[in-house]
Amino acid sequence: MKKNKLQNITLLLFVAFIISCSKDNSPLESSAINKDVDELIARMTLDEKIGQMIQVDRSAVFNNPQDITNYFIGSVLSGGGSSPGNNTASGWADLYDLFQGYALKTRLKIPLIYGIDAVHGNNNVYGATIFPHNIGLGASRNKGLVYEVSRATAVEVAATGIDWTFAPCIAVPQNERWGRTYEGFGENADLVKQMGEVAVEGFQLKNFGSSNTSILACAKHFIGDGGTRDGRDQGDVQVGESEIRRIHLPGYDYAVKAGVGSVMISYNSINGQKVHGSYYWITDVLKGELNFKGFVVSDWGGVDQLPGDYSTRIENAINAGIDMVMLPHDYKTFFATVKLLAAANKIPISRINDAVRRILNIKFQMGLFDRPYTERSLISKVGSPEHRSIARDAVRQSLVLLKNENNILPLKKNASKIFVAGKAADDIGIQCGGWTITWQGGEGNITPGRSILQAVKKAVSPSTQVSFSSDGSGAAGHDLAVVVIGERPYAEGSGDRSDLSISAGDQAIISRVKSAGIPFVTIIISGRPMILGNVLNDSNALIAAWLPGTEGDGVADVLFGDYKPTGKLPHSWPKSMSQIPINYGDVNYDPLFGFGFGLSY
Ligand code: BGC
Ligand code: BGC
Repeated sequence: MKKNKLQNITLLLFVAFIISCSKDNSPLESSAINKDVDELIARMTLDEKIGQMIQVDRSAVFNNPQDITNYFIGSVLSGGGSSPGNNTASGWADLYDLFQGYALKTRLKIPLIYGIDAVHGNNNVYGATIFPHNIGLGASRNKGLVYEVSRATAVEVAATGIDWTFAPCIAVPQNERWGRTYEGFGENADLVKQMGEVAVEGFQLKNFGSSNTSILACAKHFIGDGGTRDGRDQGDVQVGESEIRRIHLPGYDYAVKAGVGSVMISYNSINGQKVHGSYYWITDVLKGELNFKGFVVSDWGGVDQLPGDYSTRIENAINAGIDMVMLPHDYKTFFATVKLLAAANKIPISRINDAVRRILNIKFQMGLFDRPYTERSLISKVGSPEHRSIARDAVRQSLVLLKNENNILPLKKNASKIFVAGKAADDIGIQCGGWTITWQGGEGNITPGRSILQAVKKAVSPSTQVSFSSDGSGAAGHDLAVVVIGERPYAEGSGDRSDLSISAGDQAIISRVKSAGIPFVTIIISGRPMILGNVLNDSNALIAAWLPGTEGDGVADVLFGDYKPTGKLPHSWPKSMSQIPINYGDVNYDPLFGFGFGLSY
């Protein structure tokens, strides 16, 4: 009897142990680190805790960095284009180390964590390798490639001192009117979750913090960013919860299981309610159901978009489960407000402790306490030939061949006269798109790279004559033409469009080349499918190149057959605007080219 009872108790304990293990089965849990965090929190004052929850932009503290010490600021970010005057890798490292020095002057010497939008390479940094935007990586369908790209990006980020990228964007864009379509891997939840998972592993490494090139990833934007009505940026998602769970949640489930250390909240609303104030989505679903143990960061000024006065917004956001607030400027008002809210117990101290615990857990996991300053030996990796060759490979694999009449492709390297047309053929800024050097990106020689025209010139035989015209005039007399058309750089809401037709200017280039009566290949540089109109019929071959980045050689590799096209459409390609939204799995699905379409040679 006694023995039996003991056995039962042992069995019960064992079962309880198994249950507790599986429940806390998060890659971000470590009992040794939990102990360090608890000890540190026990020593912290309320002021020191509030400081950890603050994230400011570089510009807010650049002229008064001693406020990092005075307000115990836990995190700094650089928004798009918020770069140091000396925009080189070492200029960034200097900036980082300067700020870190102020953080380490605080009583408890808690290092700050610096975040940046390294969304296709460390793209704010002049001379960094710029990879294809996610839409192109989605077209590659190659997880190994996405891992390599994220790894190389992590190295280029770490080289500047920065600890954290606001990536991967695991939006599942359902409506191509949305200006952020290119930031997602594609319209399909399965594709996105697979790519997002390996991207997290590439940034953080499977063993998070095990190397000085392991940087913190951030799955964004939670949740529903790609599902807003009419594809409006920061708009309202007007579908039922089961649709949100089916389309927009799986990516987060996978990212959390891969150990993602941070998640950014989305500006959008769900059926009229801002996600930034949603206890249900942030605390119940993300932290509860998905068992996310990292920290939640708000988006740039996102808390300010909540209803009510300033204090009410902060109260709602933090109580909803936001741990760190991307303010991104006025830390003084935030600091004072949270103090009052805590004193009035409107934000319970348990909530503040939980937020700080999550942030410190990540700082410990990453090894920030041991390695607070920049590892300068990595600087030579920024824009290195090794990384550029990964990017070139990514470009090759991202191109989708949509048409190839009479096998005009691959082109012969020894053709006697090749005509290249369109401004986009010789413009690094255009081929990189938004989030390059500046927030919106820009045309022209914004950073070193090789344009498509330069790559074509390099690929052909010495006897081949390559001529260029930005408006397409003068094509007559050439053997064939390569025409490059497409979108001009944009980011976020300024890329929202009600019409995705090929522009009148681009159509004019096409008609000029066509009237010369020579065969031609059209390459479209764009952040999403465009409405092709005559361009499809007029062109003998057509390639969707998305936003390939700095390595134009990857385009030439495919044009001349050194690499046979393998890319598959990450979005359904619509016939007309009235077909959008159109997504794989719709009833009466009838696109111009279906999701997954892509020819080869
Ligand atoms: C964007 C985020 C970005 C943040 C910081 C916001 O406007 O929505 O994707 O990470 O700015 O630049
Ligand atoms: C910043 C971006 C940010 C945006 C939000 C810009 O000034 O550079 O990073 O996403 O503001 O509106």
